[in-house]
Amino acid sequence: MARSLCALRRAPAPATVLVATLSMVALAVGGCRRDMQDAPRYDPYEASTFFKDGRASRHLVPGTVARGQLHEDVALYTGKSTDGFVDALPIPLTRDVLDRGHERYDIYCSPCHDRAGTGSGMIVQRGYKPPPSFHEAGLRAKPLGYFFDVMTNGFGVMPRYAPQVAPEDRWAIAAYVRALQLSQHATVADVPEGERAMLGTGAIVAPGASGAGAANTTRAEQPPTAPTQEPSNAR
Ligand code: HEC
Repeated sequence: MARSLCALRRAPAPATVLVATLSMVALAVGGCRRDMQDAPRYDPYEASTFFKDGRASRHLVPGTVARGQLHEDVALYTGKSTDGFVDALPIPLTRDVLDRGHERYDIYCSPCHDRAGTGSGMIVQRGYKPPPSFHEAGLRAKPLGYFFDVMTNGFGVMPRYAPQVAPEDRWAIAAYVRALQLSQHATVADVPEGERAMLGTGAIVAPGASGAGAANTTRAEQPPTAPTQEPSNAR
């Protein structure tokens, strides 16, 4: 009897075997659980044995257009129609659009073209090729779409501004350049009749102008952007 008890003690009870087996299975299964870092999808540029070229990424089906990039409005995105450059603004002309154009122009164009568009911005004063004045007859006769195109694709040494300036902003700038051109060729007849009496009195201040400079009559008598002093390192 004592012997058989001993044998019983040595041989693992069936329950113990079951528990051991189950925990090993659990461990093994746990080892192959899917973690988020091992999601069942390809990472960008990951290799794949599934496709013949060994690449997981596929080319887009020809003609695929990403959402929001249809650019159906040819005039809006190129400044052109089938007859060449368009001269009509493809966005509504509002005070806000002109103000936006003014702001963007001062940021992106005035460093070379200067704030009045005569072509002697600070970069030019420091030696960059001088651009033509926007007030030359040739450029005054250009349709708006031409200005859009120059900004979009660049011109000669001038870089393109498409990467920094959105299409709507390029149109706003074109509208503002046109306003600049008109500003240098305005006649008394362009001033509303009721306001003509104020001409020369310094009482007319450009709408939206702020700061002391804009209302200053002596400034108005100077050429719009004549540099008041030579850059200190000019040779
Ligand atoms: C880095 C200086 C620089 C900046 C900034 C710049 N331009 Fe120019 N731009 C030039 C130069 C230089 C030329 C003349 C290029 C040439 O003849 O090689 C030019 C030419 C032009 C022309 C005339 C093209 C012609 O037919 O003669 C237009 C219009 C123009 N720029 C518009 C703009 C507008 C609008 C912006 C702002 C978005 C701008 N430029 C920003 C330097 C600049």
